[in-house]
Amino acid sequence: MKISLIGAGNVGGLTAMRLAQDNLDEIVLIDIAKGLACGKALDLEDARAALNLDYKIKGTEDFTNIKGSGIIIVTAGLARKPGMTREELLKKNAEITKCICLEIKRLAPEAIVLVVTNPLDLITYLALKNLQFNPKKVFGVGANLDASRFANLIAQELKVSPTEIEACVIGPHGEGMLPLARFTKVKNEPLTKLINSQKIQELAQKTIERGAEVVSLLGSGSAYFAPSAAITEVVSSIVKDKKRTIAVCAYLNGEYGLKDICVGVPCEIGKNGIERIIELDLNSEEKALFLKTASNLKNNLTAL
Ligand code: LAC
Repeated sequence: MKISLIGAGNVGGLTAMRLAQDNLDEIVLIDIAKGLACGKALDLEDARAALNLDYKIKGTEDFTNIKGSGIIIVTAGLARKPGMTREELLKKNAEITKCICLEIKRLAPEAIVLVVTNPLDLITYLALKNLQFNPKKVFGVGANLDASRFANLIAQELKVSPTEIEACVIGPHGEGMLPLARFTKVKNEPLTKLINSQKIQELAQKTIERGAEVVSLLGSGSAYFAPSAAITEVVSSIVKDKKRTIAVCAYLNGEYGLKDICVGVPCEIGKNGIERIIELDLNSEEKALFLKTASNLKNNLTAL
């Protein structure tokens, strides 16, 4: 399956590397910045012999190369600067997304489109409305990144391997995200049995602030190692039809009592994109928090 990455910045470039090393087919890296995608693609190609791998990668400024893609990953857009929220990026990144969607619609109407550009939930909604594809084929990657961060913090707190943790985060990829302790499991035990609620609250807050923490430490640009890993997790489940449960920013049409909104919820991800949206059995407190954060998101959507 041909996979195109639109945007060859830090996230796009590193995702290309991860996909290539996972042998996930033919990769096309595209960026309008002259030479950027070509340079990164050549560099990645030069690594093949040393890695003893035979992946195919091409870099280009020409959008027509997305033709025939099974998956298109959109990372193009501005990244946060220290002190900025993801929402402050909206205006500029909305314009960029609209242009990209026109090209995708024209050249690759069969593709599954993964949105990574921030503010994630709003840009995903915008992309879906502009593309008018089946909503199961247009969704955002962010909640599984948040879950990976939550898992890392839990792993450090409990001194266990992150591989033994199944972390659950739903909601927007932003300040309103909801790390859910009751649905987070450590060696199959709910987190609520292992850590007291005050500590859980602290870890959840750290998870929410992790992206901004990285931005402020880097000084320029935002995170890319964990984001590219999160994208690769989703792509791999699509390409290999693993049907794994992964939280993604999905279009809801009645699920969780919400309509016409894109927000992070657990979904079964397979060759058709979102194979199934999973409705967690939230208790009244969790439900109230989820509806509140979704309603804030909805207000931003109306502004859009
Ligand atoms: C982050 C940005 C990329 O969470 O949204 O790091």
